[in-house]
Amino acid sequence: MNYNKKTYYEKTRNNLNLVFIKLALYLYLSLRLKLTLSIVERPNFTSNISKLKIVFATNNPNKLKEVQQLLPSVEIVSLQEIGCFDDIPETSNTLEGNAIIKANFVTENYEFDCFADDTGLEVDALNGSPGVYSSRYAGEGSDSENNMRKLLTELKNKQSRKAQFRTVIALNLKGEQHLFEGICKGEILTEKQGKKGFGYDPIFKPSGFETSFAQMTMAEKGTISHRGKAIKKLIEFLNSINN
Ligand code: IMP
Repeated sequence: MNYNKKTYYEKTRNNLNLVFIKLALYLYLSLRLKLTLSIVERPNFTSNISKLKIVFATNNPNKLKEVQQLLPSVEIVSLQEIGCFDDIPETSNTLEGNAIIKANFVTENYEFDCFADDTGLEVDALNGSPGVYSSRYAGEGSDSENNMRKLLTELKNKQSRKAQFRTVIALNLKGEQHLFEGICKGEILTEKQGKKGFGYDPIFKPSGFETSFAQMTMAEKGTISHRGKAIKKLIEFLNSINN
């Protein structure tokens, strides 16, 4: 009798254990299933938002890459990518005018939102020259060496060597036009210093620095440069409307 009673209790305890194990297993499996479903069914927000697509009207791959890296939330495409191989005329006598001509050319002929930039070196003692003509200061087709030589000659007997680089960006977006400006003040050195950069970099010393642009790394120059500042304004604007 005692033996039977013991067997009965043991059986009941084993059955109860089995029920608990089954229950735990059931809970564990249903939890895992729920988790899996929630992952599978989660909507893919990133693929639902179509990225803003804007053409950067430049043929300079370095400028393009620089802006693409600073603006990952916007799809920045080159002129080549939209099949634009035209020689866009820069016929204005202002930086603003040329930036607008380039941006409008792309929007009107290729129906894309677009931004374009134009930069010039404005020297106080030369009433803002070479300005919009910076790339061809020493004549059509002249290179940076000739342009710098001419500028140094023009400034030989001048008291002031103050100058500034100025960049203007024109953006055509959703039927509206926006302008952004970046200025870097400095002075023209009496001779070339440094080998980095391009254009007038070896003879331009930004205010507050002891070296020319051509002695700075690209990253250092980018944080204080005219173009860097104009691009920063453009990026802040695009981010504000894209969020
Ligand atoms: P762009 O509008 O950027 O093509 O610039 C016109 C001209 O300005 C160039 O050909 C250069 O001679 C000069 N320039 C523009 N940006 C810079 C710069 O950052 N450093 C030196 N020269 C520049």
